[in-house]
Amino acid sequence: MCEYYFDGKGKAFRPMIVVLMARACNFHHNSSGEVQANQRSIAVIAEMIHTASLVHDDVIDDANSRRGKMTVNQVWGERKAVLAGDFILAVASVALARIGNATIVSVLTQVIEDLVRGEFLQLGSKENENERFAHYLEKTFKKTASLIANSCKAVSILACPDPKVHEIAYQYGKNIGIAFQLIDDVLDFTSCSQQLGKPTSADLKLGIATGPVLFACQQFPEINAMIMRRFSLPGDIQRAQEYVLQSGGIQQTTYLAQRYCHEAVREISKLRPSPERDALVQLAEIVLSRDK
Ligand code: FPP
Ligand code: MG
Repeated sequence: MCEYYFDGKGKAFRPMIVVLMARACNFHHNSSGEVQANQRSIAVIAEMIHTASLVHDDVIDDANSRRGKMTVNQVWGERKAVLAGDFILAVASVALARIGNATIVSVLTQVIEDLVRGEFLQLGSKENENERFAHYLEKTFKKTASLIANSCKAVSILACPDPKVHEIAYQYGKNIGIAFQLIDDVLDFTSCSQQLGKPTSADLKLGIATGPVLFACQQFPEINAMIMRRFSLPGDIQRAQEYVLQSGGIQQTTYLAQRYCHEAVREISKLRPSPERDALVQLAEIVLSRDK
């Protein structure tokens, strides 16, 4: 069960960023881009924490497909899926302890706290329209960006002692992480499940209002009542989808993602030029143009 998603078919977006960041920071510090074994472990641990959270998320969301195949909960049932997620997290924790660096442990365990808090934020909703967007961005940071930001920070700590470099790595990861999730929220409206390997329109079905709906609501205040009742009345989901597509919600969310990507590029450009730094710049473009 625990090996099920480690079949090499995922995008490996997180470990790829982490390894590139490690090389870019190593090069910035001493002109050698070679990845240290502990930096590589952080890339592995980041993917494991992510996968453990997805195994649990699919139980919470009662999802039946992920990465183009049936979910763990679908194949083995919910009880075993919860334990499988726990086990992946346990093995990741052992690997983290083995690195033997208390700062790295606290940076990466913060991610686990953020993931759980992010998931809780998603279960709740804000009645006040003005607070909704801030709530959405906070949830987006905790659910998605914290893992990328803190894993980037962790490898930068192993690369060099300069706190300015740690901040650059963190800010790059944070901004690209938020952009990644904003595009994920767009794809939930615009893509198909075959392309994504997981169900689409999933957010509305779960009662969750993401960027495209929140922007659409500014144009069509009728959506407000639907958000408040978490799209629970018959026809709500379809009507909300229609409003989103009629509004500029998709474009506005994409534009917001672009702004976060520009900020990520601005941050990473502070490092000394290297092929890996350029790859991280390119990755910011790929995040915006991805279709899965
Ligand atoms: C996917 O969200 C879910 C996450 C990115 C995080 C889920 C976090 C938890 C379940 C907390 C427990 C954490 C650990 C480490 C065990 P989504 O439903 O919006 O995306 P999806 O469409 O890919 O399912
Ligand atoms: Mg889900």
